[in-house]
Amino acid sequence: MPKEADVIGGLPSHVAIIMDGNGRWALKRGLPRIMGHYAGVKAIERTVRAAADIGIPHLSLYAFSTENWRRPLPEVKGLMNLFRYYVRKKTKELCNEGVRLRFAGRIWELSEDIRKIVREAENATAGGGRLDLVVCFNYGGRQELLDAINSIVEEDGREGAVTEEAIRSHLYLPDLPDPDLIIRTSGEHRLSNFWLWQSSYSELYFTSTLWPDFGKEELDSALEDYAKRERRFGAV
Ligand code: IPE
Ligand code: IPE
Ligand code: MG
Repeated sequence: MPKEADVIGGLPSHVAIIMDGNGRWALKRGLPRIMGHYAGVKAIERTVRAAADIGIPHLSLYAFSTENWRRPLPEVKGLMNLFRYYVRKKTKELCNEGVRLRFAGRIWELSEDIRKIVREAENATAGGGRLDLVVCFNYGGRQELLDAINSIVEEDGREGAVTEEAIRSHLYLPDLPDPDLIIRTSGEHRLSNFWLWQSSYSELYFTSTLWPDFGKEELDSALEDYAKRERRFGAV
């Protein structure tokens, strides 16, 4: 798995997506919010397929934030059930397609059965070399930084132990390159606690399309826009 961005012909090495708008998609149709999340899973399937076909090496999807526990309990339960069902159902297929499935977030805070599903999915797909698919679940950028700093201090309490390199190597997935492109759907213009450390120099792309309506065409538009950007990383 490449550590640094290996940009091939203007193609981002890591595309990260804040999948937003499921609730509004359902509301517009007079459906319960959970139906929007179901439709959102279809959009995930389309997007993963498209990303693998295009040859994007890393795709990360923001699926459940550490703040999403604030939602009504039935919706939280519905999202947990959807996660259980979807990850279990898709593992074999992803494995056959050469997709490596990984998770970022406070997985240890989730119920034991979900932790088991996560472990099994990661083990079963570990050999996938075509696409590295990262599902951010119970993920928060501030929490990731706190977790990193606390583990550094636990390992080495000396003054000066917290360095940029130390933080990087204690992130949830230290080998994952920073996102080159972050896409957010549904017309919101914020990061909502996503990849806070890693997004320092990410290109941002916003679309008013609601997540359940996202697919190959929308991904292509975002990539086309990205290819025109000039990235300077503070230099001239
Ligand atoms: C994104 O859709 C999915 C999650 C955050 C789990 P939302 O559920 O946030 O949809 P809106 O923003 O209410 O439309
Ligand atoms: C961000 O969406 C989190 C995910 C997509 C998982 P939210 O809908 O939770 O974000 P806010 O509350 O509008 O900022
Ligand atoms: Mg939302």
